[in-house]
Amino acid sequence: MIIRLFDTREELDQYAAGLFVELLSVKPDAVLGLATGSTPIGIYEKIVDSYNKGQVTFKDATTYNLDEYVGLPRENEQSYAYFMNHHLFRHIDIPAERTYLPNGLAADPAAECARYDGMLLSRQVDIQLLGLGHNGHIGFNEPDRELHAGTHIVDLQKETLEANARFFASMDDVPKQAITMGVGSILKAKTILLVVKGADKAEIVKRALQGPITTEVPASLLQTHANVIVLLDQEAGRLLH
Ligand code: F6R
Repeated sequence: MIIRLFDTREELDQYAAGLFVELLSVKPDAVLGLATGSTPIGIYEKIVDSYNKGQVTFKDATTYNLDEYVGLPRENEQSYAYFMNHHLFRHIDIPAERTYLPNGLAADPAAECARYDGMLLSRQVDIQLLGLGHNGHIGFNEPDRELHAGTHIVDLQKETLEANARFFASMDDVPKQAITMGVGSILKAKTILLVVKGADKAEIVKRALQGPITTEVPASLLQTHANVIVLLDQEAGRLLH
């Protein structure tokens, strides 16, 4: 595991974006695993900057997102499909038909999970971007006594619902379920890029990276992966020894 600490978020975002740009320069048809949430927004901005400067093209790339809320149409501003389009896809030259997210409106959610897993089995993700939940979740794999390997429907935990509530008019509007890649799907990526920012995540960063491996801290399973790059700002990394 490579851990890098950055003095500013600007430097961190630039570095992370550079990893995607470099990968695409040597492998134009790379498969990118993407995340939503506040953490990657600055990284997507830097990727778009590089695209605008002609430093990278996505015309042969494919993307798979980690997760999507159940019940929100793509046009809903809080859906992850909307987020990805807003922050990245509409600004770059990636063909829309090669940007995959789970379909949160699927009539048969179990079939949708199987369909998504089938796609993930057919092509390995080259680099999987991950944020970290305050409770240690990756994707929406919440702390539990058992975790799922494959894509599945998850009931979001109270802490996650509360964290998400800031984006919705009321707590009642916050989706209670999501479709998420499982930890097995995530760990199949060739490289995992975990990005964490902020003092409020310092405790969980320490538990995830230097604590025991446990399903109660899903991100701790990343310790079993051979090729993990962790990018932290000083605040998020302050408890690491
Ligand atoms: C998002 C996702 C989540 C977030 C995590 C951190 O696709 O899978 O695991 O990465 O909840 O969210 P932020 O970045 O908003 O702190």
